[in-house]
Amino acid sequence: MAPAKVTSGHNPLRDPSDRRLPKIAGPSGLVIFGVTGDLAQKKLLPAVYDLANRGLLPPAFGLTGFARRDWEDQDFRKIAHDAISKHSRTPFDEGVWEQLSKGFRFVSGEFSDDSAFERLAQTVQRLDDERGTRGNHAFYLSVPPGQFPLVLQQLAKVGLSTPAEGTWRRVVVEKPFGHDLTSARELNDVVEEVFPPESVFRIDHYLGKETVQNLLALRFANQMFEPIWNANYVDHVQITMAEDIGIGSRAGYYDGIGAARDVIQNHLLQLLALTAMEEPVSFEADELRAEKEKVLSAVTIPRDIGRHSARGQYEAGWQGGEEVLGYLQEQGMSTGSITETYAAIRLDIDTRRWAGVPFYLRAGKRLGRRVTEIAIVFKRAPHLPFDLNETQELGQNAIVIRVQPDEGVTIRFGSKVPGTAMEVRDVTMDFGYGHAFTESSPEAYERLILDMLLGDPPLFPRQREVELSWQILDPIIDYWAKHGKPEQYRPGTWGPPSADAMLARDGRTWRRP
Ligand code: BG6
Repeated sequence: MAPAKVTSGHNPLRDPSDRRLPKIAGPSGLVIFGVTGDLAQKKLLPAVYDLANRGLLPPAFGLTGFARRDWEDQDFRKIAHDAISKHSRTPFDEGVWEQLSKGFRFVSGEFSDDSAFERLAQTVQRLDDERGTRGNHAFYLSVPPGQFPLVLQQLAKVGLSTPAEGTWRRVVVEKPFGHDLTSARELNDVVEEVFPPESVFRIDHYLGKETVQNLLALRFANQMFEPIWNANYVDHVQITMAEDIGIGSRAGYYDGIGAARDVIQNHLLQLLALTAMEEPVSFEADELRAEKEKVLSAVTIPRDIGRHSARGQYEAGWQGGEEVLGYLQEQGMSTGSITETYAAIRLDIDTRRWAGVPFYLRAGKRLGRRVTEIAIVFKRAPHLPFDLNETQELGQNAIVIRVQPDEGVTIRFGSKVPGTAMEVRDVTMDFGYGHAFTESSPEAYERLILDMLLGDPPLFPRQREVELSWQILDPIIDYWAKHGKPEQYRPGTWGPPSADAMLARDGRTWRRP
């Protein structure tokens, strides 16, 4: 191999083609709004620590928490220490913590308080001087979308949204990106009034998951899947996101939102897009997003939504040997809420590749177990040269991408049962991350925070994808709003009976993941 060319200004130890060298963020600061919230405590702060522990953050890194609490820097450090030691993926290392937490600052204030934002601007400036963050700062809005306008205006007012020459400013926006197409557009107008589109990073944490990125490798790095990845061979696709937990203390967020807006609009439609899209010219952000957008814009919804969708709400009961509350009894719930905690929909894709192949999406809380998977279910062989009773146990071939847990891919096909008779039964061939690789997968937020600090946008959906997703979902949600209540289902089951009936109408059944 020819040695890397050494030119002036080029660091020979930093050859971009050398895969041994991880990408490390440059000098920068991260400001988290809503730092006392659940997401920050359980995911964001631990992810920042894990990045530091993996050596992916520079010494010149600063983190500023902004919240109402009357805290000093050291109080914030203590809370962050507890959150990180409880939730970090990698082992807690005092040395890493010491170095990282020296760059932790806290600004106390209301979003409406101008002086608090002036203090924030001074804090950020001081980080530049004391830590060497060099004017590069990201603002993470881990707050309800209703508060975006105010926070953004305040950032603009104190000049924090405007980078000086040679520096950058970015904003990170958590979902929900609106609650329908109109509100998503309004929200985006507010964001883009302050930050240019290329500085806006919308988080869909499913795109940060290894197994989701592996869809690109599975499909486009191999020869054997793509030729059969189309309507000639595929009967239908099932995308399942099941959770065993209920909504816990999140009634304030979840009620009125429901399963379709909470996870189908973003996570499941992104999975659909990656599963169904054509091969992008490259994995550059524009190319990848363009292919996803093409698929989303070709999605059609059933003419008769009632027959091809289902929704449910979990009732009280038992799950995993534990007595659990029904949705309507959850803390802070509005009486008689008709928010769905389970949603299933059929979508079709009007392209040559997918004509006639339904994509069934389902998501729910308090289901049998926590599992997210994409199952490509194949048509039966056109001819079976066997007696009927020899293939009674043979199902349809399938490729199943196990997004989580037990990450991996399974291929299901028929095989002869050993013995003198010809009997064919389903067997599986399995790839599991756990036994194929020694490295464990980073958390989605580690990858996404790092990419954002590096200014690397492919894993962040752009506004057009958000709008297309709402365009798909809006008529379905409107239909539901006009057609009564969701059906009740027992905790620990796989959703309401209407979901089974919905598939039975198409002559199919849901997989038992
Ligand atoms: C979030 C939803 O986006 O994803 C939650 O708002 C859900 O309701 C969560 O529990 C699930 O994420 P994961 O990574 O555990 O599948």
